[in-house]
Amino acid sequence: MQVPASTSARASELRDLLRYHDEHYFGNDSPEIADAEYDLLAAELEAIEAEYPEIATPDSPTQRPGSGSAPSVFSEVSHLQPMFSLDKAFSRDDLEAWGTRIAKLVPGDITFVGEPKLDGLAISLIYENGKLLRAATRGNGESGEDVTANVQTIAAVPNQLVGSDIPSLLEVRGEIFMSNDSFDDLNKRQTAAGDRLFMNPRNAAAGSLRQIDSAITAGRNLSIYCYQPGAVIGGPIVSTHKKTLEWLSSLGLPVNPQVEVLVDLEAVFDFCLRVEAQRHDLGYEIDGAVVKVDNLAQRDEMGHTSRAPRWAVAYKFPPEEKITVLRKIMVSIGRTGRATPFAVLDPVFVGGSTVGVATLHNEDEVARRDVRPGDSVTVRKAGDVIPEVVGPVLAKRKRGARKWKFPTACPCDLAQPLVRLEGESDHRCVSSDCPMQREQKVIYFASRGGMDIEGLGEERVRQLVNAELIQDVGDLYALTFDQLVGLDRMGEISSRNLLAAIEASKATELPRVLVALGIRHVGRIAARSLARNFGHLDRVALATTEILVDLDGIGAVIAESLKAWFAVPTNGALIEKLRLAGVNFEGVTVEVAAADPTLAGITFVLTGALENYTRESAEAEIVSRGGKVTNSVSKKTGYVVVGDNPGSKRDKAEKLDVTLLDEEGFGRLLLEGPLQTEGD
Ligand code: IVH
Repeated sequence: MQVPASTSARASELRDLLRYHDEHYFGNDSPEIADAEYDLLAAELEAIEAEYPEIATPDSPTQRPGSGSAPSVFSEVSHLQPMFSLDKAFSRDDLEAWGTRIAKLVPGDITFVGEPKLDGLAISLIYENGKLLRAATRGNGESGEDVTANVQTIAAVPNQLVGSDIPSLLEVRGEIFMSNDSFDDLNKRQTAAGDRLFMNPRNAAAGSLRQIDSAITAGRNLSIYCYQPGAVIGGPIVSTHKKTLEWLSSLGLPVNPQVEVLVDLEAVFDFCLRVEAQRHDLGYEIDGAVVKVDNLAQRDEMGHTSRAPRWAVAYKFPPEEKITVLRKIMVSIGRTGRATPFAVLDPVFVGGSTVGVATLHNEDEVARRDVRPGDSVTVRKAGDVIPEVVGPVLAKRKRGARKWKFPTACPCDLAQPLVRLEGESDHRCVSSDCPMQREQKVIYFASRGGMDIEGLGEERVRQLVNAELIQDVGDLYALTFDQLVGLDRMGEISSRNLLAAIEASKATELPRVLVALGIRHVGRIAARSLARNFGHLDRVALATTEILVDLDGIGAVIAESLKAWFAVPTNGALIEKLRLAGVNFEGVTVEVAAADPTLAGITFVLTGALENYTRESAEAEIVSRGGKVTNSVSKKTGYVVVGDNPGSKRDKAEKLDVTLLDEEGFGRLLLEGPLQTEGD
C-alpha cells in the first residue's frame, strides 16, 4: 500500500515529539505536557503505524516497553506491608524527649542503632527464593510504582541472593542513591551532550530510576543501601536490628558500613553529631541520622502510629549554611513592575543544590541584613525551597565596602524611574512600556495557569521579545511561520507546533483569559466567579465596583484592581487586539468550576504579604483545592507560604523543617499540585 507523503511526514514528526517529551518526562523528571496530551500523540502515531506497518521504525517510541501511555509505564503495585515514614527530631531535646517517651513503653534498658539518613529514594525489593521478583518505589506508602525492569539493571542490587540463610520470601527496604562522584560524572556528560543538568544527586537518582528505557538507568551508576526488612517468610530467627543487618549483608545485599550500636541516649547524640561532622566526607548525600531501637522484641511492644513506627526517629540536621561572596545586587522587574533586589553570588553548593542567586525581597530587607556588594555572606537553604542570604560575615568585610543603594532607574533599556510610594515596601517601574515587564507579562499569559500555550516558556518568550517579534501578548497571534523558523533552535516542527498551540489558545474559556491578562489579585477563583456571573469579558469590564464586591470570591481589593486595570487605555487596546485576533471572551464549563482536590488534607500557614494574592484570595485558592489554612505552624503543617516581611512563623517553620514556599512556588503548587516525595 502506498503511504501518503503527508502521513509519513506526520509519523516522523510524532516520533520526534514523543521522543522530546519522553526526554522531559523520564530524563529530567519534568514533563512539559499533560499525560493525556502525551497519550493523544502516542495514539495518533500508533494508529498510523497500525495502518502502514511498513513505516514503523524499530526505534519508534511506540516500540519501547510501556510506551504509548506515559503514566502507566510504571504500573501501580501495593506494598506487602505499608512503608512508613519517620518522626523527626531537630535537637538534643527532641531526641531526649523521644527516648523518654519510648522508655515508658517497655521494661529494661534500651539499646539503639544509629544509621546515616540517606538522601535518595526509598525502594522496596521483593525476593522470592532468593530471586529478585519486584522492585517498587515508596509512592504514597501503601502503593508505589513498579520499577523492576530498571532496578534489575543496577549492578549494586543483587538479582540473586547468596548464602545459606535465604528465606522463601524477603521484602527488604533500602535507599537508592547516586554517589557524589557519579553525580558529577553524569552532569559532565549532560553538559557535553548539551542536555539539562540535574540539580542534585537525589533528583538525578529519582530521574534515573524513572526511565522508560532501562539501558539509561543501567548507565547511571546508582547505588543502594538496605536498611530494613519488611515481610519475611523463612530465614533465621534474629533478635536485634544489628543482627538483621548482618544477615541482610550475608545475603549479598549492600548495607551501610557506618551503622553503629549505641548503648544510651548520650551515645545516640554523640553519633548524630559525628555523622553531621562527616556529612560531606561520605561521598554521598545524607540529610540526617536515623536512630532505631535495636531489640526487636522491644520494637514489637512499642508498635507504631498511623504514619510512623514509635521505635525509630530521624534526626534532621539544621539547615546547612555556607559562606560565599556576594558579587553584586541586581534588580529584577516583575510583570506588574515590582522591582525585586536579588543577590548575585559566587555559586555555592548548599542544602542539596547549587545556589547562584538569592532574593533580597526589598530595600528594607537589604538594609536589615546590611549586606553590601563584595561582602562574604552566609547563605542558607531552608528545606528544599528558598535560598536565603542570612547576613554578612563582618570580620571579612573589605574596607570601604559601600552600602547598596536602590537604583533610581529601571534596569531595562528605557531606564524609567523606579519609585517607592509612601507606606509601601516595594519599588516599582513606572513605565507601561518597560520591555522587562512586557516579557514577564507574556510569560505569565502563556503559562499553565493562563492560556497554557505549549512550547512558549520563558526562554522562548525572551527570544521572541529580543527578536522584536512581539511587544505584547496580542502580537503572539500575528506570528508567522517564516518569522519563527529562522530563529535559533526553532526547526520547522517546533515552529509549526508553536503556531498551532497559539492558535488553539484562542478557544480558551473566559476564566483562563481573565487570569492570563495578569490583573493584580485576579487568580483562578476570582476569574471563575467573574466568568460565572458575567459570562463575557466585556460585561466584566463594565461592572461597577458595587456590583463586583458583592460577588463570591471578590473583595474590595480585587474590585478596585479590576476597575483600575480596565481604566488604562493600553489595556483597552490590548483587549481589542485580542478580540480581532479571534480570542474567545466568553464561557465557563462545569469542569472548570468543579472541585479540584489536589491539596486535600494539606494544611497551610500564610505569613507576609504576597504580590498577587490577598490573604483572602490565597486562602480561597487553597480551600477550593481541599486544603486548609491555619494560623500557627506545627509539625503537621504541610507548607508555610512566605511573602514579604514574614513574621516569626517563618522561623518556626524552619525550626520544624516545614517546607517553605515563596510566591512563585505557591503559584506552581496551585497549578501543578504537590510534588511527590519519597517519605521525607
Ligand atoms: S528506616 C519504618 N533507615 O527516610 C522505618 N529510613 O522518613 C523505615 N531513609 O522513606 C525507614 N535512610 O527513604 C530508614 N537508614 C535509614 C534511612 C531511611 C534514609 C529514608 C527512607 C524513608 C524516610 C523515612
